[in-house]
Amino acid sequence: MVQFNLPENSKVLKGSYFKDKTGSESIKKVNIYRWNPDKNENPKIDTFEVDLTKCGNKVLDILNKIKNEIDPSLTYRRSCAHGVCGSCAMNVDGVNTLSCMKSHKDINGDINIYPLPHLKVIKDLVADLSTLYRQYESIEPWLKTKEKKSQTVEINQTKKNRKKLDGLYECIMCACCSTSCPSYWWNGEKYLGPAVLLQAYRWIVDSRDEERKERLKMVGDKLKLYRCHTIMNCTNSCPKGLNPAKAISSLKKMLATN
Ligand code: SF4
Ligand code: SF4
Ligand code: FES
Repeated sequence: MVQFNLPENSKVLKGSYFKDKTGSESIKKVNIYRWNPDKNENPKIDTFEVDLTKCGNKVLDILNKIKNEIDPSLTYRRSCAHGVCGSCAMNVDGVNTLSCMKSHKDINGDINIYPLPHLKVIKDLVADLSTLYRQYESIEPWLKTKEKKSQTVEINQTKKNRKKLDGLYECIMCACCSTSCPSYWWNGEKYLGPAVLLQAYRWIVDSRDEERKERLKMVGDKLKLYRCHTIMNCTNSCPKGLNPAKAISSLKKMLATN
């Protein structure tokens, strides 16, 4: 049987232990993935004892508390803290989610926090999303009209047509879905993945857009689209409750019937 071993420098080691200094009786142990590109060291898991009596309810509140009070070098992305910007996406307790939306009260025992899976790590909890953003750019996510009328006249839409965008326009491109998709893990350079395909579908069904055919042709590719095998991890992991798997199957159906 073939045996695979991780290279020595990629093994995740046990890191530092930061003991609580407050004497609080409400302590949560938080294990966090750490890796610093400036140090020639393996990744490690640091453990922090966090006093929950003076902490907000969300996992992001815990991270902020650790950064402000225990270890300022802890690195992660965040901005809005209200589930709007998508920047605080990470893997908490084995599930990709937004740390500003995830309540730590729902987690029994230790909290384990890792960067989004199957991406290069830039530092600690910051994953490299540049491929995903390149793919997003490739679907040209803006309204396209033939006569440049969008620049001068308001383009109206009926209520019925506007409704077709529900469940699509709410996507915040957090990448929780794409980084939980096994097909994207293995073919991420070529397969567009659920986040980008949902966005492609969002523009294809927009009644105001005039390049529907060209857009469909662009995604109708065996690698870009048909690497989706309807495993559904994407839909299960979307913190906004969207259904990228349904958008992908709608795209396949449109291509089969057009
Ligand atoms: S579909 Fe959901 S999980 Fe995927 S990028 Fe959009 S908001 Fe994030
Ligand atoms: S349904 Fe498609 S996009 Fe979603 S996880 Fe499965 S293979 Fe990936
Ligand atoms: S910080 Fe903006 S979505 Fe979490």
